[in-house]
Amino acid sequence: MGKVFVFDHPLIQHKLTYIRQKDTGTKEFRELVDEIATLMAFEVTRDLPLTEIEIETPICKTKAKVLTGKKLGVVPILRAGMGMVDGVLKLIPNARVGHIGLYRDPETLKPVEYYVKLPTDIEERDFIVVDPMLATGGSAVEAIHALKKRGAKHIIFMCLIAAPEGVKALEEAHPDVDIYIAALDEKLNEKGYIVPGLGDAGDRLFGTK
Ligand code: PRP
Ligand code: URA
Repeated sequence: MGKVFVFDHPLIQHKLTYIRQKDTGTKEFRELVDEIATLMAFEVTRDLPLTEIEIETPICKTKAKVLTGKKLGVVPILRAGMGMVDGVLKLIPNARVGHIGLYRDPETLKPVEYYVKLPTDIEERDFIVVDPMLATGGSAVEAIHALKKRGAKHIIFMCLIAAPEGVKALEEAHPDVDIYIAALDEKLNEKGYIVPGLGDAGDRLFGTK
């Protein structure tokens, strides 16, 4: 089974409190989602492989570590996942970006795929799938399935707020995928919204209704 990592960093918790509040406007919401994504990316990249190279400081020659240059891909689930991409790219600017378009049918709550565009070398790349919300888990399960179907071997999932139902569904469908969550909330309501959550992440990010 993959690991489930829930962040307890005070900066992340503080910023989350503001995006949860209903009076937080689009500009501030977007900025905070971006900042939280950067803070999460710091932890998510903890195990990136390093190698030693020879360098010369003004004092002497020495050996020092650099990233091996492992191929990475960031894949937002459209739309709301887009809000987390720039925040992640601040720390790993050379990562390629793929897109998976899914929307949740409001009646069935099942994800409907409408767009997939991924980087080349899928089999050699590690992927970070990003989406602010893991509710029923249907979208994340389907997006990861779409990646695996095209050859992806190593995938992690990163979200801001998750419901226990979504974590369970994702763990069951993809036990090889590590899940990084900024906050684990109480439950889903009868409309499939996370409680207490933050409402509709896509609408709040893009100012739509
Ligand atoms: C939201 C959210 C997730 C999904 C989570 O997207 O961004 O992708 O719902 O719900 P689930 O875990 O029950 O599948 P939505 O379908 O509202 O589309 P949007 O990002 O275009 O607003
Ligand atoms: N999608 C959202 O944007 N918010 C929720 O609470 C659940 C699904």
